[in-house]
Parts: sequence; structure tokens; C-alpha cells
Amino acid sequence: MYILGIESSCDETAVAVVERGEKNAVLSEQIKSQVDLHSPYGGIVPEIAARTHYEAIDLLARRALNQAGIGIDDIGMLALTLGPGLVGSLLVGLAFAKGLALVHNLPLVAVDHIAAHIEAPFISHAEIAYPLLALVVSGGHTSLFYLEEKFNSRVIAKTRDDAVGEIMDKVAKHFGLGYPGGPLLDELFVKGDPQKFTFKTPRMSDGGADFSFSGYKSALLRQAQCLNVQPGSQDFFDLLASFLSALVNYLLSRTLTVAKSLPVRSLIVSGGVSRNSLLRQRFSRECARMGVPLYLAEPRYCTDNAAMIAWLGYEKYLANPSLNYFDLYLNSYSRAHFRESGKHR
Ligand code: KG4
Ligand code: ZN
Repeated sequence: MYILGIESSCDETAVAVVERGEKNAVLSEQIKSQVDLHSPYGGIVPEIAARTHYEAIDLLARRALNQAGIGIDDIGMLALTLGPGLVGSLLVGLAFAKGLALVHNLPLVAVDHIAAHIEAPFISHAEIAYPLLALVVSGGHTSLFYLEEKFNSRVIAKTRDDAVGEIMDKVAKHFGLGYPGGPLLDELFVKGDPQKFTFKTPRMSDGGADFSFSGYKSALLRQAQCLNVQPGSQDFFDLLASFLSALVNYLLSRTLTVAKSLPVRSLIVSGGVSRNSLLRQRFSRECARMGVPLYLAEPRYCTDNAAMIAWLGYEKYLANPSLNYFDLYLNSYSRAHFRESGKHR
């Protein structure tokens, strides 16, 4: 079956065609990033995001079909991100998907964006075994999920303040480096000494497993101010490298502590920040040392994309072929399905 996936939750408009069933492959992916449009503002402007999705989405769908060498009549099902995300952006995808579903009489399956990030490593690793622990690190989320089986997840830990990607974006904005900050910190890492500066690891006063990142940003800005660190200086690169290194070590140690406390056959790390070179390197090395099977999404499927949406959409359809989200609206889609314990189809 050919599935058309649609993603428009944030600042990337993406449409992909995947083939599932006897063959399992991503046939095409068209992504229009809005980074250049939001960069001058140091963050995403929702109004601009929604308008840009609207301008781009039908052309991207045509291109994705062309690239896959098929027509809309060959598509067997549509998959769409219904949440979480920016409301205006999500509505563009929803209206477009509903239109296609209505005209071409296609089943439309709605997908949770975070669940799709967790699905992303399955695109190249069908062998991933349950139960699994998934660390989702993106611009909007930093959470650990425990999945006993597909569609049965439990939140083990989440950030109590900013997401780790958000902290990187804010730091880059503060120093006028641009947006998004994660890839910039990734690139600058090699210029600095990651051991030059130290950062205190946060401890939850209630002893909980949750994450907290705002203290890292405050400590970084405090040290930069106290030492009068100038952007572009060696101290500046050392400070940024030490900051990134501390964030990665924190994510790694919390994740492995949880992994040791539960029956876990696979560890997944996904979301935009999992594209980070240092993170990939340190997680790979440590998991190999401890004998924990680690699955990282391919870099192009770490950040927002429509292939992961189509991939998970098909799994949901397989689990329940009568499922059709055609009657669903944004506010009828409960995030609680995925955030809290239990099954979420
Ligand atoms: O998953 P994603 O594309 O969108 C959300 O669902 O949030 O993640 C975007 C986040 C941004 O905060 C961006 O700075 C971060 O992922 N990011 C990275 C890298 N590439 C993207 N962070 C660290 N290193 C990277 N190479
Ligand atoms: Zn995302």
C-alpha cells in the first residue's frame, strides 16, 4: 500500500510517500523548511508558519507523488499529524488532508507527532524489540517514554521547564548566533574544549526522574557575564562546547539510570536534538559498553518529517483498519492519549 504522509505541526511543511506491506520503503519526501523566514525573529512566528504551510503544501504533495512515480489514485491511505503543534499550522495540514480524503475517498489516519518521532528509527530498523525506552529530545519535548508494546506507552520523565532543543535555541538567540540553535552548537562544538567549564547536574527536590534545563542556561549566561566572555573568543567556544557536553551527559546518565531500572530490550533516542553529533557519539559508545541495544533514527528522520508520520499512520491502520479520523477536529484529539499511561490508538 502507498501512504501519503503530511506534517505541518511546526516550521517544516513535509509530504512523503511510503510503501508498506510486502515492501517497506520511503519512496519520496518533500520538505520545505521555514528556518530562513523565522531566523530574523530568533524563534518561530506562528502566523508566518501557518501562512507558509498554506502556500507550500499542495505543491509539495504534487512533487512527492511525482518523485515517487505514482499518482494520487495509487494512494491507499493518508496519514496526518494532528497534534501537538501550533494550531494554525496543524489546521493547514488537517484542512488539506480532509480535502484529499473527501475527493479521493481515502482513509485518513491521525498521528501523534511525538509518537511518530518514536516510530522514526523503525523506518530503518524493523527489528526493534519491546519493551523499549524512548528518549524524545526536540524543540518542544524532552521526555522518556516506556513502551511495553506499540501503542502502549507510559511517561517516565519529562522536562519541568524548557525542552533541551529550546534551551539550545534560546542560548543561540541570546548570543545572536541565529536560529535554530541546536545545529549551530553542533557545528561550533569542535572549536571548543568541552572540559574547560563545569555545570552542576540538576537534582529534583522531590527525588523524581524528571528533567530540568533552565539551570544550565542560567549557569552559562552567568559564567559568560562574570568572565566577560566575548562571542567569537576561545573562551566563548569553550563555554558553548562545555555547555553542550554537559547537556548530553545529563541526558545520557538520566536515560541509562532509568534503562537499568526497567526491563528494556531496546533504547530509542529520537527528535530533532538526536541529530546532534556529540549525542549520537556518546550514546552509541556508552550503550555499546553497557550492552544496551540503541536505535537512533537516520539523521534526516530525526527532525520533523512526513515519512515518520506515514510510517506510524500505517501501523495504526493495520492495528485497526476501520479507524478513520475524518470526523475528528483538533480539539477532539486528546493529548492525554499519548502523554499518560495506557493504550493510545
Ligand atoms: O523534532 P524537531 O525538528 O521539531 C520539534 O518537534 O520540536 O526538533 C527541533 C529542535 C530544535 O530545537 C533544534 O535546535 C534541534 O531540534 N536540533 C538540533 C540539531 N538539529 C536540530 N539540536 C542539536 N544538534 C543538532 N544537530
Ligand atoms: Zn518534532
